Amino acid sequence: MTVETDEELKRLQAIGRICAAALRKMLAAAAPGMTTRELDEIGRSYLESQGAQSAPEVMYQFPGATCISVAPVIAHGVPGKYVLQRGDLIHIDVSAEKDGYFADTGASMQVAEGSKEVTALLDATKATLKKTLAAAKAGTLISELGRTMQSEAHKRGYNTIAQLASHGIGRKLHEYPSDVLNVPNPRDKRVLTEGLVLALEPFLTAGSGRITEERDGWSLRTTDRSIAAQFEHTIVVTQGKPIILT
Ligand code: CO
Ligand code: CO
Repeated sequence: MTVETDEELKRLQAIGRICAAALRKMLAAAAPGMTTRELDEIGRSYLESQGAQSAPEVMYQFPGATCISVAPVIAHGVPGKYVLQRGDLIHIDVSAEKDGYFADTGASMQVAEGSKEVTALLDATKATLKKTLAAAKAGTLISELGRTMQSEAHKRGYNTIAQLASHGIGRKLHEYPSDVLNVPNPRDKRVLTEGLVLALEPFLTAGSGRITEERDGWSLRTTDRSIAAQFEHTIVVTQGKPIILT
């Protein structure tokens, strides 16, 4: 959607803050011995306490309030009986709706302790998101976002995952512009416009960048089982720095 009124911006900011707080609580709570279902329940109860509802449940009948992916799964992981282990690389994605407005945020983390290899990937992915946010100005080609993501990833020795894209958001979880690719797309002539609401989510991996769907019909893992990471923010495009909602 494109924000046209203060009222719309306020509502987006409200759901953005709720998603961000739910994610923070889940990142802080993730610990060895906990199931991903228990972690999901922390997110669900916070969303409900704020009058928000899980976007993937409402939009796609996803079997969970949030997506919790344990590496090598990188997206759309279904919360369940899996017990988190020390050193697991996990990805938590929180998207929710309140009063007809949607926001979407996500982060990767290591449970309880970190390896240098994973820490470097997490740092590179965060830095890539930061660069991409800075590039998201009104008047810029949408394909510039993918170019920024890929060049930042390559600079640090990683690939982006081309099959997982950033997207428009606002009155639905996924809306115009779709397929905001994490790789350059010279055929994409669309331009960022003032007020456009976007969920930007670079995915970086130490591997080839290809992904495969697991048998559960949801979970997406790296085909070569390489480590991968994702950080995501929902923003409003302006002439200058974007307004970060999450
Ligand atoms: Co997300
Ligand atoms: Co998203």
